[in-house]
Amino acid sequence: MSLFLFKSILATFFLLAGLIAVISMLTLMGRQGRKISANFLRKAHKISGFIFCVLLIVISYFCIKYWVTAGDQISARAIAHSVLALALFIIFILKILIVQFYKQFLKYVPVLGMIVFALSFIVFSTSAGFFFLRTFCEKGETVEAAVTPRTDLQGNVEKGALLYNNKCGACHYANKEDKKLGPGLKNILRKERLPHSGRPANIENIKSQLIKPVLTMPSFSNLTEQELADLLAYLETL
Ligand code: HEC
Repeated sequence: MSLFLFKSILATFFLLAGLIAVISMLTLMGRQGRKISANFLRKAHKISGFIFCVLLIVISYFCIKYWVTAGDQISARAIAHSVLALALFIIFILKILIVQFYKQFLKYVPVLGMIVFALSFIVFSTSAGFFFLRTFCEKGETVEAAVTPRTDLQGNVEKGALLYNNKCGACHYANKEDKKLGPGLKNILRKERLPHSGRPANIENIKSQLIKPVLTMPSFSNLTEQELADLLAYLETL
C-alpha cells in the first residue's frame, strides 16, 4: 500500500471521528426532545474527540516528514493544505485549553468545535479527497498540446543536471531506482514503462508528468522549453 493511500485512509477515519464528535455535541446541546441520553452523547464526544486528536498527531507526523524531505519543491495544493491544517491545529488546541483551564470562555467552545470540523473537512478535501478523486475518477491521460517534443532545441546535459539537483533531487534518486518520495529515476528512459503510472517511458509522458503530474508531485509547468530540453537531456543519461 502506498504511503499516500495509507494517509488518506487514516484521514477518512479522522474526518469520521470529527463528524461523530460534532454531531454528538450538537445533539447534546442543541436538539430539543432528543431521545439519546446525555451521558451516552458525552461519552461519544469524548471517545471520538480522543481518536480525532491521535489521528491528527499521526497524520501530521507523516506530513511534516514529507515536507522536510521535499523542502521547497512542494505543490501549491500541499501548501494550502498545510496552512489550513496549521489553523485547524491552533484552534483545536485553543478549544482544549478553554475546556480544561479557561472555563470563563466556555460559551465559545461550541463555535470553535464547529470551526475545527469545518477546517478538518477542507483539509481532508485538499489532500485525501484529491487523492481519491484522482485515483478513482481520472485516468492518467497525457496533456496533448504541451508535450510534443521540440526538435529544434538542443538540451544541455550539464544545465539539466543542475536543474535536476535543484528541483527533483529532493524527491528522486538519480543513481538508483529505489523510492525516495517519488520513484528513483535511474534508467528512466531505458525502461519500457514509467514507474508510477505505467505509461510508456518516453519524453512525451515525462513532459506530461512535469506539466500535469499524476498525483502528488508538484507541477513544473513554469519551466521554459529550453529548461525542459536540458532536463530531458540529463534524464536520458541516467
Ligand atoms: C515533492 C517531491 C517531488 C519532486 C520535487 C519531484 N517529484 Fe517526480 N514524483 C514525485 C512523486 C510522489 C511521484 C509519483 C507520482 C505522482 O505523485 O505524481 C513522482 C513521479 C515522477 C515520475 C514518474 C511518472 C510516472 O508516470 O510514472 C517522473 C518521470 C518524475 N517524477 C520526474 C520528476 C522530475 C524530472 C522532477 C524535477 C523537475 C520531479 N519529478 C520532481 C515526487 C516529486
